[in-house]
Amino acid sequence: MCGIVGYIGHREAYPIILNGLKRLEYRGYDSAGIALFDGEDIKLSKTKGKVNDLEKKIESEISTNGTLGIGHTRWATHGVPNDVNSHPHYSNSGNLVIIHNGIIENYESLKKELLKRGYSFASDTDTEILINLIQDIKEKENVKLGKAVQIALNQVVGAYAVAVFDKEKPNEIVVAKLGSPLAIGIGDGEFFIASDATPFLEYTKNAIYLEDEEMAIIRKHKDVKIRKIKDDSLVNPYVQELQMNLEQIEKGGYDHFMLKEIFEQPSAIKDTYRGRLLSKEAIIKMAGVEDNMKKFINAERIIFIACGTSWHAGLVAEYIFEDLVRIPVEVEYASEFRYRNPVIKENDVVIAISQSGETADTLAAIKLAKSKGAFVFGVCNVVGSSIARESNAGAYTHAGPEIGVASTKAFTTQITLLTLIALRLARAKGTISSSDYRLHLLELEMIPEKVNDALKSEAHIKKIADIYKDVHNFLYLGRGYNFPVALEGALKLKEISYIHAEGYPAAEMKHGPIALIDDNMPIVVIATKKGHYDKIVSNIQEIKSRKGKIIAIVTEGDTSVKELADHVIEVPETLESLTPLLTTIPLQLLSYHIAVMLDKNVDQPRNLAKSVTVE
Ligand code: AGP
Ligand code: GLU
Repeated sequence: MCGIVGYIGHREAYPIILNGLKRLEYRGYDSAGIALFDGEDIKLSKTKGKVNDLEKKIESEISTNGTLGIGHTRWATHGVPNDVNSHPHYSNSGNLVIIHNGIIENYESLKKELLKRGYSFASDTDTEILINLIQDIKEKENVKLGKAVQIALNQVVGAYAVAVFDKEKPNEIVVAKLGSPLAIGIGDGEFFIASDATPFLEYTKNAIYLEDEEMAIIRKHKDVKIRKIKDDSLVNPYVQELQMNLEQIEKGGYDHFMLKEIFEQPSAIKDTYRGRLLSKEAIIKMAGVEDNMKKFINAERIIFIACGTSWHAGLVAEYIFEDLVRIPVEVEYASEFRYRNPVIKENDVVIAISQSGETADTLAAIKLAKSKGAFVFGVCNVVGSSIARESNAGAYTHAGPEIGVASTKAFTTQITLLTLIALRLARAKGTISSSDYRLHLLELEMIPEKVNDALKSEAHIKKIADIYKDVHNFLYLGRGYNFPVALEGALKLKEISYIHAEGYPAAEMKHGPIALIDDNMPIVVIATKKGHYDKIVSNIQEIKSRKGKIIAIVTEGDTSVKELADHVIEVPETLESLTPLLTTIPLQLLSYHIAVMLDKNVDQPRNLAKSVTVE
């Protein structure tokens, strides 16, 4: 997992690469580096730390001229984050330089061979092995750079998006992809490369997304030649027009991307159902579902596979699907599913959920499910992502770019989309009455407005955050539809504030976690009116008797819980199945404000990366 950027053309490469790395920093941020060709030689600067640290260092170290260059922001897999392990890496001759996103799994055996042939290595990375393998092949077989890269990659086991250039041939960059994303921006005689299109949005709207096992030779003022790495066959480039704009990827006046994305939820949810939910006609239209209606209708089981927050969205969907569609549902961590020889039948429908569409475990789980004959439907946010392409069919959440590492709008839009699918299937299967169906559509349409209302509690939530910011443990409890929300609330707090938090089904509290409760322990309880309200009130009583501090998320106008809780945060009333879309909001804001007060890096929490493209 990392971000890679490159440029070849007529402009100064340095500002394009530096700015591009800043946009990609969400993908990895333990070190960064840039290599430029200044007309005569390669100039390289790299450092442990953030892109800002690189920016401070680079100008005192090298001249930043040149119209060819590559840059990298790292998320270490092999070797600790330090200056030497940072990318780019030279080959032993000093002629070749590489950036790499991914893992070379067989690097040890390759290294042994190279050591025998007299190569030495400065870093602990797998990447440095690859660039020397390329040099070795290039010299031994007397082939051009592109060919050498191709032969080398055919010897490699693992995952990669790589970019390589040779100072002896500074008119080309060679790139290749397997498992990690790589986009090529096509300008007028100039080319951009990047892990996603955001680094080159202001220069071109035309992009080619390389497919797995493809490589490209990009020649300045000329063209992009794409080939299959395995059999060398030429591939016709498919140039896509980008729909994103610059505004969408900037902070727009908010202090952090996370806060911006929390506040974008009303419009993001609208964008998810726009054109799909036609409440007047009482219709839900989704091509991916319609075209595969038979598969869905005949499904004996639906299996959701995902990781992290997306897995929580799958858990919410489990309640919705079983409730409305009456199909048995399982929700699986992709990382477990892929390794445990699951029983999958041809009549199973697998729904893979992923914001980035690049999560390695989810991708591998999809491939496994497909190999066993299941039909795979992808629910992704990033258009054209690997999971979107690997799935048999799918639908996008259309939440817009999510930059903050802690997922917010991706979660609520995933739930929105999954609700639409469940409603459409319930209608087709006749498991929902037409009045109930209409009611759901009308209520769903009102959710953006209600999310807006929920966001109005921000100032109140900030005060609560201030009271509890210094505690070391939090508990989150919820029942039914709001149990996954409790898990998600705890995950959000852990991720960005580093406070230990656990989510539990409220009734499970008495089977263990209740032992943790004392007068120092804040417990966030989701206690909205619909759905086991009386039971939750009893659970709150149990906490109260042990002097725990209760922060309750309640339905507007609630009085019973108000009497018991230390703090209440109100959300508007809605159907029980839609409450997660509202109860999630205060939990996002609570973790955000605690993290800000603790002076944590909210958008780029330690040790995390936005999309986890390694195992
Ligand atoms: C969410 O806040 C996390 N950073 C993480 O759990 C994330 O949801 C997970 O890695 C899955 O990512 P995906 O949705 O892009 O597949
Ligand atoms: N495996 C490489 C390394 O550890 C690249 C990791 C990444 O994708 O950032 O340096």
